[in-house]
Amino acid sequence: MYKIAVIPGDGTGPEQIREGLKVLDAARDRFGLALETVEYDLGGERYLRTGELLPPSVLEEIKLCDALYLGAIGHPDVKPGILEKGLLLQLRFDLDLYINLRPVKLYPGVEGPLKSKGPADIDFVVVRENTEGLYAGAGGFLRRGTPFEVAVQESVNTRFGVERCLRYAFDHCRTRRGRKKLTLCGKTNVLTYAFDLWERAFHEVGAEYPDIQRDYAHVDAICMWMIKNPEWFDVIVTDNMFGDIITDLGAMIQGGMGIAAGANLHPGRVSMFEPIGGSAPKYTGRGMINPLAAVCAAAMMLDYLGEAEAAKAVEQAVATVCREHLRSLNAGEMGYSTGEVGDLVAEYVL
Ligand code: IPM
Ligand code: MN
Repeated sequence: MYKIAVIPGDGTGPEQIREGLKVLDAARDRFGLALETVEYDLGGERYLRTGELLPPSVLEEIKLCDALYLGAIGHPDVKPGILEKGLLLQLRFDLDLYINLRPVKLYPGVEGPLKSKGPADIDFVVVRENTEGLYAGAGGFLRRGTPFEVAVQESVNTRFGVERCLRYAFDHCRTRRGRKKLTLCGKTNVLTYAFDLWERAFHEVGAEYPDIQRDYAHVDAICMWMIKNPEWFDVIVTDNMFGDIITDLGAMIQGGMGIAAGANLHPGRVSMFEPIGGSAPKYTGRGMINPLAAVCAAAMMLDYLGEAEAAKAVEQAVATVCREHLRSLNAGEMGYSTGEVGDLVAEYVL
């Protein structure tokens, strides 16, 4: 019996998660899985009502689950940073979800913005360090609000944190059916402390993986190559901030936020699965949002739980719906409503 905590969250999060759960139910029936879900109403509404973000008792309950399925966090009436830091990042930190795994894959039939590139060219994953870097919250203000104010925001890179991320990336590269090439995305020409550590650790750990080709590129160049030659990439490993930025770019070349999913992992422990896009409040309740990102996150969750066959079936169902049905992956341009897309995927889970 898998116990899954569900946080539908804000904006279009709940309507995306509803379709994800619909598809999970189909996978449960088809593969005879035992799934139990527990829903938590965390997010902007609850914060505005009660001031609570992530109550310690809820965190303790989540820790006893096998996985956490999250919709979206972000509310127009809550100042930016409060929900993000108090809930989403708090979950990543408190559960020590040190990997953010984000596949960038163009499914056949999906029209991406890169006209000369097809599914054979766009199929890589980004391994983003998820607990350190600029996200660690180190720094502060001096004389805030005066003409002499100073704001310092430091990037924290520990050998332990970097090394466990790199090991995951090398292992993932080894098991993935790719070209066995791991690209470190950094900025060794300017960030000469942080990425010096990353680069040394990369080659030291990499020596234990002679079957994996090691490659390096600066983050700005990565942005260029992701557009010009995405076929060069198999697995990209990088720090938290660069990983955040390049995965939005990655989402675009795979057809948009409508399909981009991510897994926040601590191998062996409760891990969190989410669409990588935001809460998209302007589409809330209109049945326009594409639920495929949430469905793909559910597939990653099944895979993480050890249900590889069910995960594959869901992914194939998504691919079929993209190929046979959807006009576009963008909200409101799919040719189907949010619920209809979920119905279609569920039907194809064979
Ligand atoms: C993401 C998001 C978050 C991040 C925000 C909402 C804090 O952009 O998951 O990529 O920056 O990590
Ligand atoms: Mn982001």
